[in-house]
Amino acid sequence: MNYLTINGGKRLSGRVQISGAKNSALKLMAASLLGHGTTVLTNVPRISDVFTMIEVLQRLGAGVSFEDNTLRIDTSGEISTIAPYDLVRRMRASINVLGPLLARSGHARVAMPGGCNIGNRTIDMHEAGLTQLGVRFTFDHGYLEGIADRLVGKKLVLDFPSRGATENLMTAAVLAEGVTVIENAAREPDIVDLASFLNAMGAQVWGAGTSTIEITGVGRMSSTEYQVSADPIEAGTFALAVLATGGDAELAGAQPETMEIFLEKLALSGAEWAPTESGIRVKCERRPRAVDFATLPYPGFPTDLQPQMMAFLVSAEGTSIVTENVFENRFAHTQELVRMGADIRTEGHHAVIRGVPGLQGAPVKGSDLRAGAALVVAALGAEGTTEVHDFHHVERGYEDFAGKLRSLGADVELMVETTSLQV
Ligand code: EPZ
Repeated sequence: MNYLTINGGKRLSGRVQISGAKNSALKLMAASLLGHGTTVLTNVPRISDVFTMIEVLQRLGAGVSFEDNTLRIDTSGEISTIAPYDLVRRMRASINVLGPLLARSGHARVAMPGGCNIGNRTIDMHEAGLTQLGVRFTFDHGYLEGIADRLVGKKLVLDFPSRGATENLMTAAVLAEGVTVIENAAREPDIVDLASFLNAMGAQVWGAGTSTIEITGVGRMSSTEYQVSADPIEAGTFALAVLATGGDAELAGAQPETMEIFLEKLALSGAEWAPTESGIRVKCERRPRAVDFATLPYPGFPTDLQPQMMAFLVSAEGTSIVTENVFENRFAHTQELVRMGADIRTEGHHAVIRGVPGLQGAPVKGSDLRAGAALVVAALGAEGTTEVHDFHHVERGYEDFAGKLRSLGADVELMVETTSLQV
């Protein structure tokens, strides 16, 4: 088990390259099962979730190679339709093989993804939509099994703009007979990435990025080559790391048009940002002002930046009110921030942050990848040394996090846990 030590107080500056988006790459990897040939994905981040998805695809019978940031996925052979229990339990995104397997083979047997510490995260909307397309589901021994003699396009309405449900319905509908319309669809950048990828394979997907996606089924899809777009959540995380130290740096590859509300909230805090030739420049030369924000599905403030934004606001001037609308339980990081001297009170979906002049380093534990990243943001601006334990969570979604921070001037080191720390 790794942990990161951070000696706070160093001002970050310079330039950091933002990697391809985890929450896009994982879906494109699953969707490659729709083709019969070799898919090439470039700008794929080297993170543990990608290696887990590689294992899922290999266990299904695909041939996969990963050199630098280029993935080659050969799905020309026999593909099993049973997704391994241990891997789906380890990573919820494995459920995204459900749609492609049903479209390719008319059958899928996938372990129910575990809940996690940010919420119960059921898949009822995935199941309801696929059932309307003609899938018959049974559930036994922890597995969800779907069978479909044929998939027929329908008009579907999602109760909530779920990203996973939208993606599974898109990848099932591309080979269904007739037209599928998904109303109240998720609008995140990874949905747009997935639609572009599917269309490059020969699909007919229109409206991705809006709440209404229309898909006309085609007979067959072919493998393709595609570049994964930059990760807005990694970009936002590094922006807050730089700002928490009063720094000034460029986030190369970041796309401001995918981060509008987040950047607006940064400006309200008194931080400055500007687009550059290759990304975004951020700087903050004064103590930030308190800012209220509420997480919502895209284009609202992303829940995956809520912990990191909190870690920036804990030392702001004034009181910030944070509302978490997407997950039931995504405030685990607040107690760890309090351990560093923050003044935060949570009540249901709300958190009240009273700004303090500064934080002190302490041994803390990140319970999921964004909570861990938030504790690093707080530690960079804190006085003294912090240890962020359970760092393997962070390594699920950030390529070379420590190396990138060091390149901006941070004093951080990745350590190996010798004793289990009770914090
Ligand atoms: C994606 O998860 C992301 N993961 C999450 O990022 C992100 O936090 C989440 O979207 C919300 O933006 C990946 O893309 C791999 P949802 P997903 O379906 O698809 C409920 C990270 O840090 N729901 O939009 O699972 C669900 O419980 C991770 O990178 C149902 O109730 O999210 C949750 O409360 C964490 N029934 C809400 O909707 C369903 O059938 C949002 O879920 C589906 C979802």
